[in-house]
Amino acid sequence: MTRQHCVHFTLMPLSMRLLFSATLVVLGIGYIFAMIYVFESHAGHDGKPGLSVRDLIIAYSGSKGDTRLEAALKGPMAGMLPTAERDEIIAWVRRGAKRDEFEQTIAPIMEKRCLGCHNGSNPHIPNFERFEGVMEMVDLDTGMDIFTLVRVSHIHLFGITFIFFITGFIFCHAYVRPAWLKQAALVLPFLAIVFDIASWYLTKVYEPFAWVVMVSGVLMGLVFAYQWLVSFYQMWFYRLPPEVAENGGVVCD
Ligand code: HEC
Repeated sequence: MTRQHCVHFTLMPLSMRLLFSATLVVLGIGYIFAMIYVFESHAGHDGKPGLSVRDLIIAYSGSKGDTRLEAALKGPMAGMLPTAERDEIIAWVRRGAKRDEFEQTIAPIMEKRCLGCHNGSNPHIPNFERFEGVMEMVDLDTGMDIFTLVRVSHIHLFGITFIFFITGFIFCHAYVRPAWLKQAALVLPFLAIVFDIASWYLTKVYEPFAWVVMVSGVLMGLVFAYQWLVSFYQMWFYRLPPEVAENGGVVCD
């Protein structure tokens, strides 16, 4: 019987159950902190409280909304110039903020309307004397850049694999029927992380992939909670069905 080593928790020595329990407790706390972090870093970006698919789109693909220059022209700086000139500046930004167009049409407007204040004399307000200074206010928000995504991807791929290998290894010792439920709970988190991370990039191309990010994140959380609760419960409070106990408590499927 080479499968004998995969026996139910209740047949394990106390020291091993203590090790498993301590590991689960600390991983559980870690997971809660991870949830808080995910929530705090993404929630509310769309202006509404809570974490929504729209928040994820903004994180990965960008809001593509108004640049700071446009926001200022529609907000606090609206009174500084006639509407026609304002529209001209906004149209230039939306066309891609080209340098030659700037020199021809935008710079003269700014010289007349803006440089009175935005001339570098006050270090707290943007300096519009040069093209580069204006460009600092016209970065279109396109979300997390690829390099950041690559960095976060490899950390997540390694980290999540460790977490779900450990919880899964412990959960293997639980008695779960039907057997496919146990097998699905072991494999799903690994599928979810791959879909999750692929969708970070795909959301840049096609925004509805933010739904995959959302669903796979929720799925990982649910499977973690499920494995955790079943393992902990069966380790300390469960009585193995007699037919399994008589079979030596083997729970490998
Ligand atoms: C009378 C002075 C004055 C004039 C003229 C003026 N601004 Fe400003 N601008 C300010 C001050 C002060 C701030 C910083 C405080 C603030 O953000 O309201 C500012 C801030 C800004 C910002 C930064 C907003 C941000 O997101 O931090 C932009 C962009 C801007 N102005 C654009 C313009 C443009 C374009 C014009 C010309 C059409 C213009 N301003 C004309 C005084 C001026």
